Amino acid sequence: MPDFTILDAPPQQNANAAHQKTFYLETFGCQMNVHDSEKVIGTLTQQGYQQVETEEAADLILYNTCSIRDKAEQKVFNRLNDYKKLVRQGKRFGVLGCVAQQEGEHIFERAPYVSLVSGSASYRKLPEMLVRLEQGEKRITGLDDRQTEETFETEFTARSNPHRGYITIIEGCDKFCAYCVVPYTRGKERSRTSTSVLAEAQRMADSGYTEIQLLGQNVNSYRDPERKKSFAELLAAVGEIPGIRRVRFTTSHPRDFTRDIVEAIDAVPSLCDHVHLPVQSGSSDVLHMMQREYTRDWYLERISWIKAAKRPISMTTDIIVGFPGETPADFEQTITLLHEVQYDGVFAFKYSPRPNTPAVNLPDSISDEMKSERLQILLERQREIQRQNYSRHIGEVLEVMVEGHNRARGQVIGRTSQNKTLNFTTAQPILPATGSYLPVRVTTSFPNSLVGEAVA
Ligand code: 5AD
Ligand code: SF4
Repeated sequence: MPDFTILDAPPQQNANAAHQKTFYLETFGCQMNVHDSEKVIGTLTQQGYQQVETEEAADLILYNTCSIRDKAEQKVFNRLNDYKKLVRQGKRFGVLGCVAQQEGEHIFERAPYVSLVSGSASYRKLPEMLVRLEQGEKRITGLDDRQTEETFETEFTARSNPHRGYITIIEGCDKFCAYCVVPYTRGKERSRTSTSVLAEAQRMADSGYTEIQLLGQNVNSYRDPERKKSFAELLAAVGEIPGIRRVRFTTSHPRDFTRDIVEAIDAVPSLCDHVHLPVQSGSSDVLHMMQREYTRDWYLERISWIKAAKRPISMTTDIIVGFPGETPADFEQTITLLHEVQYDGVFAFKYSPRPNTPAVNLPDSISDEMKSERLQILLERQREIQRQNYSRHIGEVLEVMVEGHNRARGQVIGRTSQNKTLNFTTAQPILPATGSYLPVRVTTSFPNSLVGEAVA
């Protein structure tokens, strides 16, 4: 599920810090980028670099960027402009990820002090690019590998959480929705073999991970190059690895959402009770203009499969408001869809025209004011839906995984299988450890979180 906040991975400690090359890495965008950053951190550490917490302390400053909307892209250029003075101190800058892939060598024109520009498919070449950087080369690019069959294998992944980890199962996207940059920034779909995915999952289980999140721009269009497993079978196989207690997957496309995914969730208890299924619009006309290749009814049929599951499955979605040509009646259909589905969470965005995409040539007919108004209405309506949905949990006992502690509030932070935050208190003198699982009775609800008490 997208989370467009800025995430800094924690620095790695190293005793020989004094003479080491140092780097700072800041990540923008989705979980794919967060996980790519874990791979970049692992690779740099392996190359003798130490991660530091501030730009000031670093020799090499890296931004792993997102270009999904204009605002995300602007953030990167603002960051680069802010730190011109650091260039005078001899620091080197690198731009990684989707803006790097999209803008390519233009980045050297917009920010001439950048020395390294690399898209995600070229990270395998990072060690070699770092050597060139250290030799003083000024303009190093890794941009040409989007069609590579090789996915960035994760030998040196520096996972930042010891209990819950990501595994990429598919890279890229072949869907070409009219608004979306991903097929251009991340290239065509390439799946990893199920053998390689399961081996990584097994290694993670062996080193104590209990939750695995399978990642891809389009996880459910996964095609095993070895033809051994469908996506649903792979999901089930990961869930059956001893020690793995929770498996999540994101993000799914409705076109490829098959019934056997729900059957797998029914059959394998460790597969979490949550499906993120981006709809983008409730209007079939807008969906057609977006080139989503499904209708409202077709989408709702998939939702009815999910609702018919043995366990209640929480549903979340992504929505774009103000796509060119979206009429008030179209928008109203999105609102009625929210009520019909009863989502537990919605990530809603104002349409942002993106370079190279088919929709960029459509007149951006909805004013920014109108987009903001529609977004506001949508979020208010959704908040009411969530207020009701969350209140239905009061009195239930739910298993949580402990994520941390909020000492100021005297609460333990937990997450349910449905991916809901459940903060709780406990009568025990010793607080439950991060990564542990325990049952919690829900006592209070809000539109975005639950509060409860540990069941002694
Ligand atoms: N404008 C606004 N939102 C977009 N998204 C993708 N492209 C755009 C765009 N051009 C949203 C979609 C997608 C989510 C990750 O970002 O809702 O599911
Ligand atoms: Fe992730 Fe898409 Fe943003 Fe790239 S453009 S970082 S793939 S959300």
